[in-house]
Amino acid sequence: MSALLETRSLSKSFGGLNVTNNVDLAISSGDRVALIGPNGAGKTTLVNLMSGALPVSSGEVLIGGDTVTHMSQQDRAHRGLIRTFQITRLFESMTVADILRVAAVQKHKAGLKLRWGRARTDLVERDVERVLADIKMQDRRDSPVTLLAYGEQRLVELGVALVMQPRVLLLDEPAAGVPQSESHIIMDAIERLPSDLGVVFIEHDMDLVFRFAERIVVLVNGGVFATGTTDEIAANDDVRAIYLGEADE
Ligand SMILES: Nc1ncnc2c1ncn2[C@@H]1O[C@H](COP(=O)(O)OP(=O)(O)O)[C@@H](O)[C@H]1O
Ligand SMILES: [Mg+2]
Repeated sequence: MSALLETRSLSKSFGGLNVTNNVDLAISSGDRVALIGPNGAGKTTLVNLMSGALPVSSGEVLIGGDTVTHMSQQDRAHRGLIRTFQITRLFESMTVADILRVAAVQKHKAGLKLRWGRARTDLVERDVERVLADIKMQDRRDSPVTLLAYGEQRLVELGVALVMQPRVLLLDEPAAGVPQSESHIIMDAIERLPSDLGVVFIEHDMDLVFRFAERIVVLVNGGVFATGTTDEIAANDDVRAIYLGEADE
């Protein structure tokens, strides 16, 4: 069976700087993979290459066994590969339900050439309700996003991704900037994600990593430095040295 998402010798350089080096990864249905590594290791770049936000220098990206290396971000999204997006300032005065509605309208607009009608509106509203339940924000549906706690705002970003009903979800530091007291809001929602979804999660907080992940990929200088189960990575002296080294700085 093909992996949901795969990279083969994926590489990226900016000028002379090699930021992604021959990365081979495979994400399957139900995977919970944490992508960790020091600042500047190339984690965000790797997500950008997989999602199509950045063109690759060499190597391949495959979704369900099909090469998508030169496909747009939108086309990859329609094949089920979704990353979280930061809500733009433009959207801040909108309510939670409106933001999800905009995402759902985009979803149902694509592909179909039918006129917009009652049936389509029903599909949109069904998606809005489904996601409000997924992120447990039914009681916040009419709140302008600006009035939400920061952790809840990041949760709405997760909601926007869930509107698309992804098969693989890429989360780049979903709890970044969220106060410790609110990070459980994000983690609880991540733990409730559909069990068949493949999830790749970039996170610095090791407590969150070990709570979430079944498998850890350690990226250093753009290459896969180590990969294994959480127990294997926790017991890996070379990985520990990197993190202790970073903490010493
Ligand atoms: N658009 C870019 N142009 C040039 N260098 C970049 C660009 N984006 C990222 N980099 C460099 O690539 C390296 C990896 O960055 P990044 O993927 O953001 O790392 P991480 O997410 O692991 O902190 C860094 O050295 C960064 O400065
Ligand atoms: Mg990053």
